[in-house]
Amino acid sequence: MSMQAYELRDDDRRPPINDVLEVVQRGLRLQPKRLPSWLFYDERGSQLFEDICDQPEYYLTRAEIDLLNVHAGDIAEVLGEDVRLIEYGSGSAIKTRMLLEQLRSPVSYMPVEISPEPLRQSVQSFSELFPELTIQPFCADFTRPLRLPVPPRAPRRNVIYFPGSTIGNFEARDAIDLLRKMRNEMGEGGGVLIGVDLKKDPTVIEAAYNDKAGVTAEFTLNMLVRLNREIGSDFDLSAFRHRAHYNPMAGRIETHIVSARSQEVRVGRMRVAFGDGEAMQVEYSCKYSLSDFATLAAHAGLKVQHVWLDPQQLFSVQFLVRA
Ligand code: AVJ
Repeated sequence: MSMQAYELRDDDRRPPINDVLEVVQRGLRLQPKRLPSWLFYDERGSQLFEDICDQPEYYLTRAEIDLLNVHAGDIAEVLGEDVRLIEYGSGSAIKTRMLLEQLRSPVSYMPVEISPEPLRQSVQSFSELFPELTIQPFCADFTRPLRLPVPPRAPRRNVIYFPGSTIGNFEARDAIDLLRKMRNEMGEGGGVLIGVDLKKDPTVIEAAYNDKAGVTAEFTLNMLVRLNREIGSDFDLSAFRHRAHYNPMAGRIETHIVSARSQEVRVGRMRVAFGDGEAMQVEYSCKYSLSDFATLAAHAGLKVQHVWLDPQQLFSVQFLVRA
């Protein structure tokens, strides 16, 4: 591995603790109450998400891996030689590994990740797996403008890799903004390789977010555990429930934390009242038909150049270029 960029550049964009408090207080003043889903991912939350991926109901990760098992070679061919691969979020090493194994002479691999620790782990494992590969970790919030490090040699194209249907967590307008930002960052001949979960039987989708073992419920409620620890709030964990429903009109899973009784919670200096059964929205997971997503991409000035599906046609990986 080239060590040139091993030291993590910090863009100073990580929200400091006070920001978490502010974000939470602001969200709790909204009607209906609403907290951003990135609050799920403290260390425990990231572990719980990995456990979710092992649940029989959560088909997304398995489908995307099945897809890569069949199509990674073809995807690599479409991306071409001398690609600089920029991954938004340094999530699951396995998918990126499957892709990198197929890429022809990649110029560099650049994981962009807001948390330093997962970023370090990703550098560690990829430098062992691909000793020849230049790895340029970048510590930043990928929803903000990035000043990308200079690659070791000129790439033929920049490809932004955004697997896992993370795009589903953004509402349409934010998703368009993010895609437009990628369009700028990748440059003229660049592309976006993105994992997109597909619309299907709502019972299948709903089951994925309500696993029998209760891992998703624990993942959801861990947000409150995190807040109690980090901002000193006093959410009573036994008085809140996980709820995830598929909204067929909007085409998305809507996850809520529901108050099991009427209660008051202290959040910093603020006292927040919850009614019995009051629901606080914590996550959307949007599902798309192929034409839905093509329309979304078009709003960001992108066109879908290739679509790959897993054998069960549950999930898609799509290659977008400038329209
Ligand atoms: C990691 C954002 C793709 O929305 O399916 C899984 C997160 N939430 N179960 C998703 C999640 C509840 C997941 N993403």
